[in-house]
Amino acid sequence: MSDPPMPDPLISSDKSILKALRGEAQARPPIWVMRQAGRYLPEYRELRQRAPDFVSFCLTPEMAAEATLQPLRRFELSAAILFADILLIPMAMGCDLRFVKGEGPKLSPVRDRASVDALTTDTVSRTLAPVTETVARVKEQLEGDVALIGFAGAPWTVATYMIEGEGSRDQWAARVFAYEDPESFGRLMTMLSAATAEYLVMQAEAGAEVLKIFDSWASGLTEDLFQRAVIEPTADIVRQVRAAGVDVPIIGFPRGAGPAIPRYVRETGVTAVALDQSVPLNWARENVQPLAPVQGNLDNALLRAGGPAMDAAIDAIVEAFAGGGHVFNLGHGITPETPIENMARLVNRVRHG
Ligand code: CP3
Repeated sequence: MSDPPMPDPLISSDKSILKALRGEAQARPPIWVMRQAGRYLPEYRELRQRAPDFVSFCLTPEMAAEATLQPLRRFELSAAILFADILLIPMAMGCDLRFVKGEGPKLSPVRDRASVDALTTDTVSRTLAPVTETVARVKEQLEGDVALIGFAGAPWTVATYMIEGEGSRDQWAARVFAYEDPESFGRLMTMLSAATAEYLVMQAEAGAEVLKIFDSWASGLTEDLFQRAVIEPTADIVRQVRAAGVDVPIIGFPRGAGPAIPRYVRETGVTAVALDQSVPLNWARENVQPLAPVQGNLDNALLRAGGPAMDAAIDAIVEAFAGGGHVFNLGHGITPETPIENMARLVNRVRHG
């Protein structure tokens, strides 16, 4: 009696998320969830309490690897996303960074040419070396079809926090700065692109199989500012990552970019594009998916609400994108108050119908 043929373990590019990111249609889409390691999980809250502060948590490979792996023990996800934060880059460039409970991140603000010139990209690889160790540790423990995603914030989104000195509703200070002092703003974008590309290359070389660039605040920009702040810096990163010989797929996430998404895909060179929940399914199927595989885009409020409304929305998204490359995800991160049962129901429905 002969054994059935075994899948070749050497063909790691056969992981379902990698197939989707090559544009292959699949019977069921792969799924992961933004912020899948986070406060909705009791084991995350328990681990988080053991860290003196959030930045040390991110920079302690043992803890960050554990947080990365936690959601995979509960749910049948197709990918792990490195546990870290987009604001580690400004910190590594010399900004003070603190996370204040209940208030979010606080940074020493970058508001003029002198504070841009005080930043440096020289210390990025040394300061963020622990992140590469996290990547390597997670990679060792991943099994089967699960791929590891590395990430960074896009220069614009990261700059909004740097210029404001904290989160903001409408990125006001950053938009004013970009118009008032375009030269210093351009210099900041150039430095952030270089630091981010270097950081993404480090992650890929340590074992990340997919890279994602989060531009969470890409909405509400004029055509001119979208070009200078979103498209050009992202294109710059993609070029630098490719020039370093890294060929893993890159997912861009220009959240809220709406009708500018096709231009973003064509002009940045990203492999795939993540869609937020405001992007209409039929429009994306006709205007985006022919250009690049898509990721998304269940409303995180529907995941919180659960029930038949969530089920119907999941089925509509799966069906809309079934003809091409599609990675299922939310339109934005899972929120802390989301019931774990809803997450389990989501993953199960996407994987098994
Ligand atoms: O599971 C994952 O998705 C991986 C880890 C991850 C975190 N942040 C962990 C985190 C990722 C990919 C991010 C990205 C990130 N960080 C973004 C872009 C994506 C998005 O959601 O728009 C942004 C804008 C940030 C900046 C940031 N980090 C803010 C504004 C905050 C505070 C607000 C909050 O939710 O508390 C963080 C903190 C943060 N980053 C937490 C986690 C799990 C919560 C902190 C804690 O546990 O105390």
